Amino acid sequence: MIDVATASVRSTSEIPVAPSVPLLGSLPWMAIDGAGFLERVGAERGPIVRLPIGTRGMVMLSHPDDVRHVLQDAHKKYVRGGAGDLVRPIFGNGLAMSDPPFWLRQRRIMQPSFSRARIATMAVAMNEVAGRHLAGLRDGQEVDVHRFMLHVARDVILQTMFSEHLSPELLQLDEALVEIDRFIKTRMLLPFKIPLSWPLPGNVRVKRATETFDRILYGIIDRRERSGEQHGDLLDALMGARDADTGERMSTKELRDEVMHIFFAGHETSANALTFATLALTQHPQLWTELRDEVDAVLGGRAPGPEDIPRLVRTGMIMRETLRLYPPAWIFTREAAEDDVIRGYAIPKGTVIMLAPIAMHRDPSLWPTPRRFDPDRFAEDPTATAAGKTWAYLPFGGGPHVCIGNHFALLEIAIVLARLAQCGRLVALRPESARLQGASTLSVKGGLPGRFEARTAVPRASPI
Ligand code: HEM
Repeated sequence: MIDVATASVRSTSEIPVAPSVPLLGSLPWMAIDGAGFLERVGAERGPIVRLPIGTRGMVMLSHPDDVRHVLQDAHKKYVRGGAGDLVRPIFGNGLAMSDPPFWLRQRRIMQPSFSRARIATMAVAMNEVAGRHLAGLRDGQEVDVHRFMLHVARDVILQTMFSEHLSPELLQLDEALVEIDRFIKTRMLLPFKIPLSWPLPGNVRVKRATETFDRILYGIIDRRERSGEQHGDLLDALMGARDADTGERMSTKELRDEVMHIFFAGHETSANALTFATLALTQHPQLWTELRDEVDAVLGGRAPGPEDIPRLVRTGMIMRETLRLYPPAWIFTREAAEDDVIRGYAIPKGTVIMLAPIAMHRDPSLWPTPRRFDPDRFAEDPTATAAGKTWAYLPFGGGPHVCIGNHFALLEIAIVLARLAQCGRLVALRPESARLQGASTLSVKGGLPGRFEARTAVPRASPI
């Protein structure tokens, strides 16, 4: 335990500060190129930097020891706090925005639904969705890769959650989620908060979308409860989930909130990873060849199942390197629930801490020549999420809040990449003009124009 009151503790104001201007602080830099800004600030100012953003400012950490301190060793001193307040009226209180004791109860109930074994059963649905979307591509067809991957990932979540093909009802639910997503993205960009109670057109639309989402989801839950039918999907798993010690289950409202959280935490992140993989593979065409050769050797035209994933070694390394260079969850935050000391500086209660995988993953002292896309970094431990550098590699976070969907995401990304390699390849058309966009997730600014090039004389994968 460190004594905050000791004389050797330096004041928070002595923490190196990022470039800023009066009133707006560092916001102009964050708005123009947040990812590049944090990468530069980390490299130039060091592992702890004060970011004058918002009324209270933030402290960015990018040293593995400090990150481990906040996320693991001293995690009880840090909470999510008000980070999700903007969207809480819509999202409710799900896993990704809550703190103990509520978070702990929910995590204990939900964890088994996301075990590796349970997620493995979802490979069939993931294959179905990937196969359906890829079958719709013609040789030479131009597509926006990001939009394509977003549709794939959205359908993967919907199908693994509800195991239904897109019925009219599910399409309505999907449209409602798209409307909510649009609302969040626009509001996040505003430097001020507009209350949801104001009768503005955007507020009215999002309220209607939330009502549609609730009506359909509660209807599905109710039908399942009354019929007792089992579908073997994620919704069944969550509906049947119990706390191992207390036997408690989630209320219908809690279930609703978690479904909404899973949808938002789990589709754009995966879609962005797949988009960045396409970008990197276009820039390194020999990797496309290696990927295709491995997929052919391991699968021989068969659809990939969960048991194949450990044997798709090169594919796994490409995936992990993509998540290093382009971490979709590029920043996330915590709030100090009590006074603390980090790197010798006082961290008073209420300080917002920014964890920035984008700065860590591109730090040359942790990753030599960090800007180079080099899957061989993961050669020694190709299946490890952390590549032996746990706290320097944080695509899925770390500590008790580590991404509950990490097995889901890694399986999904591997399946989509393998299915793609079996039927052709997606090529980014102007890879040199791709720019990073750091918002709620890290993505490619304005999308990624691409073209599908079909393979010839290759058997299409059969269903598993
Ligand atoms: C490449 C894809 C993904 C990335 C990069 C990613 C990243 C992350 C990160 C960094 C966190 C920790 C945030 C924090 O500590 O505050 C997190 C948490 C979470 N993720 Fe993911 N995620 C991905 C896919 C998924 C998927 C597919 C799902 C669900 C199916 C999911 C559901 C969640 C949930 C519910 C949490 C909150 C966990 C908790 O606080 O206990 N994620 N994710």
